[in-house]
Amino acid sequence: MAENPSDQVREAPYLPYETVADDEVTHSLRAWLRAVDDLGELKVIDGLDWQESIGRVSEMLHHTDDSPAVVFDRIPGFDPGYRILVNSLATRSRLALTLGLDTNIGTFDLVDAWERLTTTTKPEPTLRVDSGPVTENILEGDDINLDLFPTPLWHPEDGGRYIGTGCGVITKHRNSDWVNVGTYRVMILDEQHTSLYMSPSKDGMEHRNSYFDVGEPMPVVVLAGLAPIQFMASGLEIPHGVNELEWVGGISGVPVRCIEGAHTGLPIPAHAEIAIEGFLSPTETRPEGPFGEWTGYYASQSREEPVLDIKAIYHRNDPILLGCPPEKPPYEAQRFQQYGRSGNLQRQLRAAGVPNVVAAWTHSVGGCRLFNVVSIKQSHAGHARQALHVAAQCGQAAYLGRIVIVVDEDIDVTDLNEVIWAVCTRMDPERDTDIIRRALTGALDPAIEPGKKTFNSRLLIDATRPWEWRDRFPQAIGPSPEVKRETREQFGWIVGR
Ligand SMILES: Cc1cc2nc3c(=O)[nH]c(=O)nc-3n(C[C@H](O)[C@H](O)[C@H](O)COP(=O)(O)O)c2cc1C
Repeated sequence: MAENPSDQVREAPYLPYETVADDEVTHSLRAWLRAVDDLGELKVIDGLDWQESIGRVSEMLHHTDDSPAVVFDRIPGFDPGYRILVNSLATRSRLALTLGLDTNIGTFDLVDAWERLTTTTKPEPTLRVDSGPVTENILEGDDINLDLFPTPLWHPEDGGRYIGTGCGVITKHRNSDWVNVGTYRVMILDEQHTSLYMSPSKDGMEHRNSYFDVGEPMPVVVLAGLAPIQFMASGLEIPHGVNELEWVGGISGVPVRCIEGAHTGLPIPAHAEIAIEGFLSPTETRPEGPFGEWTGYYASQSREEPVLDIKAIYHRNDPILLGCPPEKPPYEAQRFQQYGRSGNLQRQLRAAGVPNVVAAWTHSVGGCRLFNVVSIKQSHAGHARQALHVAAQCGQAAYLGRIVIVVDEDIDVTDLNEVIWAVCTRMDPERDTDIIRRALTGALDPAIEPGKKTFNSRLLIDATRPWEWRDRFPQAIGPSPEVKRETREQFGWIVGR
């Protein structure tokens, strides 16, 4: 470790970057690093240990707006070049870059862009290739050793080292061709085994049930280092039944080149950094967790979870592990999920027939699940209640929601001050609140007693002007959303975007 701590920070650029064909740039993490470096948003830090420092620094990074993407290299005990990238998608500019959008895009435009992408994108089938950078090293049999990678202990009280945080878990439904990629946490059990934790209602869980119900192991590939566009699609709810690899092929206009896993037949992106292939046992379990989670707690205790028996590890030379350890909100994932989940919520409200939805926002402080706000232009009696109930129970919101608020169109849904002001001044608790009972929760819900985490309830708050006397409601002071939007466009450099 350098004597002067600042000597440990290297300014990018650093090699090896990757020169890939133009049409492959989107699906290569190394080409993405070059683009982020060009934006001036990349730092390289040498010499931090996996036992404590990497987790601690990552935690602090996540809580700072506009923080850089950081590569940890020269990790003591590991070959130089065995690296970890964290905080990849923490800023709007890096998310926009990843999606091929203008890096100066504003908040609402990015939400609308996501809604458009999830509505209109035509999936692009993956392209089968025989080899690629990921086949530079193939470890099988006794050579399989997860300890080759510098997986950090992300939080001091974690039950183990999680190699799968910023990961993509590839599975296929047993009875169809449906391939899914989801981000589910993966803890190292020993050199050749991991666990895999999936919450109820996840697509990966549906796949798991299709095998476990008939007593068969589930084929799995864990991408522990992958292109950020693939990670983003994996960690966000894209339309049910769509293969995320085909979806990112569709939005980038470039098919993802994939080799076929030798043991499972699953597609593995040829530019992946690290891919772990194996079978999830329907019978063998081992203790998993606790793990610091997106709720801001070590939310689930240690529990028995199925064991993933590894048959092969594929990795590039000088592999880069993609880390996205959950932290107290808002952390990196919520900084990108807030746009995607808000776009999803908008789309699903409209698809359910709720008229005149102005905007929706899944607040990062609630982990983009626990605290969601919708604005409407009230169009009929009962409109606010309709929006509330749909926003509390549609696909995007069903799992582990808590509080939903509906406001009028003059309220900026992203601004906590405005939202709480509307609640304080337009809502009367007796008239304007509903509770939904026996809704879907999961093992990570800190407010529900251990052993009883099946159902939770939802608080719905109508903070719109009361329909019957809305014309007589006191006039609010301050600019309209349109004026605010224009002001942001014109004076964003002063008032912020
Ligand atoms: C960093 C990160 C970690 C996550 N960890 C888990 C997890 O351990 N288990 C889980 O069920 N979902 C987890 N999620 C959420 C899922 O990835 C997300 O709901 C995704 O949409 C699931 O994909 P699916 O809808 O295809 O199942 C995580 C998301 C991120 C971004």
